[in-house]
Amino acid sequence: MYNFDRIINRSGTNSLKWDIKKEELPMWVADMDFEVSDEIVKALEERVKNHIYGYNIVPDEWYESYIAWWKNRHQYEIKKEWLIFSTGVVPSISSVVRRVTSPGEKVLVQTPVYNIFFNSICNNGRYVLESQLVYKDGKYSIDFSDLEKKLSDPQTTLMILCNPHNPIGKIWDKDTLSKIGDLCYKHNVLVLSDEIHCDLTKPGCDYVPFQSVSDVCKYNSIACLAPTKTFNIAGLQTSAVCIPNKKIYDKVYRGINNDEIAEPNTFAIQAAIAAFTKGGIWLDELREYIEKNKLIVKEYISRELPMLHLVDSDATYLLWIDCGKVTNNSIELTDFIRKQTGLFLSNGSQYGDSGKKFIRMNIACPKEILIDGLNRFKLGITSYEKRR
Ligand SMILES: Cc1ncc(COP(=O)(O)O)c(C=O)c1O
Repeated sequence: MYNFDRIINRSGTNSLKWDIKKEELPMWVADMDFEVSDEIVKALEERVKNHIYGYNIVPDEWYESYIAWWKNRHQYEIKKEWLIFSTGVVPSISSVVRRVTSPGEKVLVQTPVYNIFFNSICNNGRYVLESQLVYKDGKYSIDFSDLEKKLSDPQTTLMILCNPHNPIGKIWDKDTLSKIGDLCYKHNVLVLSDEIHCDLTKPGCDYVPFQSVSDVCKYNSIACLAPTKTFNIAGLQTSAVCIPNKKIYDKVYRGINNDEIAEPNTFAIQAAIAAFTKGGIWLDELREYIEKNKLIVKEYISRELPMLHLVDSDATYLLWIDCGKVTNNSIELTDFIRKQTGLFLSNGSQYGDSGKKFIRMNIACPKEILIDGLNRFKLGITSYEKRR
């Protein structure tokens, strides 16, 4: 049994999440306040002990660890020649945007969505084309006619799919993915499937690898895979792209190399191999713990904050909370809560306009911290309501 209740002091570690005032509590950026598994720590310690940290290669064991993980966990058979090491999912996305689309073209995303997709598109001189997800009766779905209309625009050349979807925590099912794949193929749009959250699912639920759905999906896509979100090792910068179509592979391989993101740092390989070969039990216990945290939040909100709605989710440790009965301005709300209570949440507006009445809460922390966060949240919301 791993101990996820243990509170680790992260101050003084240059943590982005904890770069805050002393009395503040961060529940924003997507990293976890849990200790990394012993198996990964041991692998890193072994490497540290060598005392020389020069340039690195990508060994066969790295490929084998991805292949075995996806085969055993997700019933998807990856081939070695489909994989490319990359320092991160965001660097890969930016590289792919530059390589497979031209300046001025449109890249489709389904909003609300992980905000950094917008940067990868705009910073490279391409346009964001939003197909908003439909939010009805507290649940999300896809408006396929809107999606097709936008994919059929001749200027649309790439779709970035978030699978599972951050911030709404949805696992897309096989039929939905198949429809997306068919529409993209029909309109000559390449799919980039960002699968970084794929292992953080509710116990008993599994995600569907986009490329496993059909040959159409497989040969018209690029998947971004990584152990970083799952095993809390984002700072080690280790990920992969998986591309079964040789022509697309060659193109993206060139881009990843030209962009100088193909070379691993000294810990990137060891950490990924240890995670994928030895991290399974830790991960399953973590998923149970996150699910329990989710239930705590669900009960707390229905009991103490009934004016809010927690969107049901089967993936990620990021909760998406509808604050529409309190405000339409989540920037103001999150700023207010932070000032009043020190609780630092993500405002929903940054994920697209349709997120403006939502907040995102990161619940990957020990229960004691979660309860502190919820009490601050209640104080913030009730003070905000009284103020108006
Ligand atoms: C959907 C999604 N993609 C990518 C990333 C970041 O990936 P990386 O750290 O590998 O660049 C995140 C981090 O929150 C994310 O939520």
